[in-house]
Amino acid sequence: MDWSICRYQPADEPQWLRCRVLAFLDTAYFDNVLRQKEHYSNPSIELVATLDQHIIGLIDVECETVPGSVCSPPKHSTATGKAGMIWNIAVHPDYRRRGVGTALLKVAIAMAQQSHIQRFEAWTRDDASTLRWYEAQGFQKVDTYLHVYLQDDEVDGCLGSRIPGLRPIHVFAQYRGESVPEIQQRFSRVHECNRYDLILKA
Ligand SMILES: CC(C)(COP(=O)(O)OP(=O)(O)OC[C@H]1O[C@@H](n2cnc3c(N)ncnc32)[C@H](O)[C@@H]1OP(=O)(O)O)[C@@H](O)C(=O)NCCC(=O)NCCS
Repeated sequence: MDWSICRYQPADEPQWLRCRVLAFLDTAYFDNVLRQKEHYSNPSIELVATLDQHIIGLIDVECETVPGSVCSPPKHSTATGKAGMIWNIAVHPDYRRRGVGTALLKVAIAMAQQSHIQRFEAWTRDDASTLRWYEAQGFQKVDTYLHVYLQDDEVDGCLGSRIPGLRPIHVFAQYRGESVPEIQQRFSRVHECNRYDLILKA
């Protein structure tokens, strides 16, 4: 397979969006659909993998110029400087498990190291193959909380509206409390959201 990695160009946007949607379709992010590509206020590494002029993979990393301005506080005492947030990483489902994601990450790491980035941070839900992938790349899970989707009856008796006549039907909530098993039992769509950190070698 003769694919290559290059920098994202504005003209790539329609294909970038399609690749991302398809990559997420069979994951816990299936309904996390973007209609416009995100742009970042800090310097960013935005790469695409292309095959025959088609985008088959992508990575976006926003790189801090000031430690703590984008990423969470460090958990590791050797990487307290600037960090990079992986906002997007996705490989088209027809091209998974061929090294595309690994290659995108490696190029992003090399570019980030030139800017003295010490750590990459990523947040991902509970797809077992994705978690395995992060761990195989050397990332470590350092935090987790819940993403909870409440629908119809699940909202009633739990959340309300202060505006007469306005009733919430679908609610997205984050849970960081102590009663994780109860929340997982009570609501039908609950995801773990996991923070993964990768310490970059100097
Ligand atoms: C997670 C994801 C980015 C990984 O990208 P990928 O290109 O499939 O990953 P790679 O090919 O680099 O590595 C995956 C596996 O393929 C294997 N592999 C790599 N090259 C291979 C080859 N030529 N032949 C067979 N297997 C190969 C790797 O060893 C690895 O195996 P493992 O999972 O058992 O450890 C991709 O699967 C994806 O987009 N998933 C859905 C979207 C998603 O969840 N994104 C993250 C949200 S935060």
